[in-house]
Amino acid sequence: MWISAKLLYVIPILFLLSLFGSPFFDSETIPLPLPKLHGKFLHITDFHPDPHYVSNVTARSRCHEHFKSTKKPKHMKRGISGPWGAPATVCDSPMSLIDATFEWLEKNWKNKLDFIVWTGDNARHDNDDIIPRTPEEMFRLNRMITEKFLETFGDPQLRSRKKAPHFIPIVPSIGNNDIHPNNIVLPGPNDLLTTLHDIWYPFIPQKQHKTFLKGGYFYTEVIPGKLIVVSINTLYFYKANTAVNGCKAKDQPGTIHLRWLNDVLRMANKRGLKVYLTEREGLNISQEDQGAVETKVYNIDKYMNKLLKHYRKIPLTREVEKEYAVININPSVIPTFFPALRIFDYNITELANEDHEVNSTKKSKKDSPSQVNTFLTPLGYTQYFINLTHANLYPNITPEYIIEYTTWNEYHMNDLTVPSWIQLARRIVNRGFRSSLWKKFQEHLMVGTRSLIRQKNKRSYRNSDSDDRVKGPEDYIVSELSF
Ligand SMILES: *[C@@H]1O[C@H](CO)[C@@H](O)[C@H](O)[C@H]1NC(C)=O
Ligand SMILES: *[C@@H]1O[C@H](CO)[C@@H](O)[C@H](O)[C@H]1NC(C)=O
Ligand SMILES: *[C@@H]1O[C@H](CO)[C@@H](O)[C@H](O)[C@H]1NC(C)=O
Ligand SMILES: *[C@@H]1O[C@H](CO)[C@@H](O)[C@H](O)[C@H]1NC(C)=O
Ligand SMILES: *[C@@H]1O[C@H](CO)[C@@H](O)[C@H](O)[C@H]1NC(C)=O
Repeated sequence: MWISAKLLYVIPILFLLSLFGSPFFDSETIPLPLPKLHGKFLHITDFHPDPHYVSNVTARSRCHEHFKSTKKPKHMKRGISGPWGAPATVCDSPMSLIDATFEWLEKNWKNKLDFIVWTGDNARHDNDDIIPRTPEEMFRLNRMITEKFLETFGDPQLRSRKKAPHFIPIVPSIGNNDIHPNNIVLPGPNDLLTTLHDIWYPFIPQKQHKTFLKGGYFYTEVIPGKLIVVSINTLYFYKANTAVNGCKAKDQPGTIHLRWLNDVLRMANKRGLKVYLTEREGLNISQEDQGAVETKVYNIDKYMNKLLKHYRKIPLTREVEKEYAVININPSVIPTFFPALRIFDYNITELANEDHEVNSTKKSKKDSPSQVNTFLTPLGYTQYFINLTHANLYPNITPEYIIEYTTWNEYHMNDLTVPSWIQLARRIVNRGFRSSLWKKFQEHLMVGTRSLIRQKNKRSYRNSDSDDRVKGPEDYIVSELSF
């Protein structure tokens, strides 16, 4: 329960970019012909579809019509649900919002993306005693989202291939609301992983079905011979997952998971593949970090220390010790703030001589795509959102996502390398917490809902109730700019 309450605010999607190794051509592997690259990928998360959502009822009822008291911040219990969702409330997503999201993706991004990172939580929260969420419902919702992905991103051109999947690579990872009971995953194989495997079968590459059945993790070669995306199952690292016990004992699934990760990274290094890591929630993010939506990118030192603590028994440690990592935490579709998603641009200019630098294994880490702008470096992202306040005025017009900001325009970042993020952090610190840059940043942390939340927090707000002062959103957003 603690975790699920926390997650509602956290939008806790870590998408850790970590680039290891260097170009190396492994003659044992026959590379597939490279697809035409678009240089873009989507990161989307936390759909939380709720078939019980009712429009024009109080948020306090969780948009379920009947009264229900909760311990959430006051503003989240205020307001009336609209046809497209209830912004900045405790409510989950109405089906209309899920449909609008996929319609928009199909219309705007079909055949324009290279791959998709999708970080889980595909069912509503189990937060209403009157209609408890059954495992059947949870899996049904997960399957529904899966099918929408397959419909939306199916590529008829690929249909002629017999074996290859008929859609672009999609890499899901398991959210704590994708499992039952909440937060608990036993070592695999087990019924839960088997059911998830049945649902996500199309996304899991051929040789990795056993791995998934055993641990709920896998990787996909999203650009053959060039880039893999590794889906980490952080549930084996959750304290709340009382069925397992950390990453020290040899037989623990967390330990086995990390060993597997290490093997994958070694393999990638050997084959000259770059690696993006994607995961539901960071390794042991402590209480004080709750709610950090984007700021964690500045908290690299601290995060790295945590990461290293987890990895300490693993040879990998020595290799990453002096490096920083950037963690991109994605906003959610569920309207905890306004619904949002990100389209990333990444560098698809491959240096002509790279394939031939067989002996580049010794190339400095400083040349890696996380450190300098080179092939596969993320260049920036565009954050799209739906202004639900506006959308709800028009029940008959399906809303579209619009641009909220880009890292180029609003932060003047040329790329998303570690040095660029550090530079932005320095700029914020130098200009101070009254600067427009910081204000803008905070605005983005709440995906445009800052003034809405402020308004809802006013005493004079209609439907005002006499709740005790509970934490507001700012309390959940940590902005430690120390480094
Ligand atoms: C919403 O409910 C109120 C009463 O509960 C009603 O007066 C109003 O007409 C309803 N609005 C819509 C759009 O259905
Ligand atoms: C997370 O870290 C804190 C302190 O850094 C520690 O007390 C706690 O046991 C850790 N939790 C897990 C699950 O490792
Ligand atoms: C790579 O370097 C190693 C040691 O420096 C050397 O033994 C090997 O022959 C080199 N390989 C190629 C393909 O140049
Ligand atoms: C991509 O990387 C190459 C180096 O590999 C660099 O020359 C080029 O400027 C980068 N492209 C963009 C759009 O930043
Ligand atoms: C959202 O729409 C409302 C109503 O049109 C408007 O008042 C508000 O400024 C908009 N918010 C953002 C962030 O665009």
